[in-house]
Amino acid sequence: MKYALGLIVLFLIAIQFIPAKVVNPKTDKNLEIKAPKEVMRILKNSCYDCHSNETKIPWYASIAPASFFIKRHVDLGREWVNFSIWQSYSPKEKDKKLGEIYKSVYHAMPLPDYIKLHKNAKLTQKQKQIVREWTGKIPY
Ligand code: HEC
Repeated sequence: MKYALGLIVLFLIAIQFIPAKVVNPKTDKNLEIKAPKEVMRILKNSCYDCHSNETKIPWYASIAPASFFIKRHVDLGREWVNFSIWQSYSPKEKDKKLGEIYKSVYHAMPLPDYIKLHKNAKLTQKQKQIVREWTGKIPY
């Protein structure tokens, strides 16, 4: 038992050396998405931590294993849609992403794990409606 505990501690120390750092790349402000104020407020409050180059990085993001999950969410999130470089997407890409955003706010986004730690990021019905209307997509 004593050994098991020691091993766990060693393991936790060892994984701290595995790099998993979230960085915010410098981005031309002109590439950022442009949307009405109330939409921007929602995106910034509920989506930007994973879908922009302006991630607010919490202290626990530098501690493994939390760092692995956070890094993964941000990497994947930015890959799917990065609001900081929205203007660099082609019209076709933008249209596709708007469709995905429309669907994502039903229940998938923001990620449930994230909401547990960021309660005020959970979208209200009203906020969902604002985002959906802004995407210009039709209900499905
Ligand atoms: C905690 C990080 C996080 C937050 C916050 C977050 N997302 Fe995501 N988002 C992800 C990840 C990770 C994926 C990739 C999911 C996958 O590969 O299954 C994703 C995928 C998406 C996709 C691609 C399609 C899909 O549904 O998988 C869209 C669109 C999207 N997010 C929109 C949003 C919007 C809009 C918000 C804010 C209301 C938001 N996300 C908040 C992490 C996040």
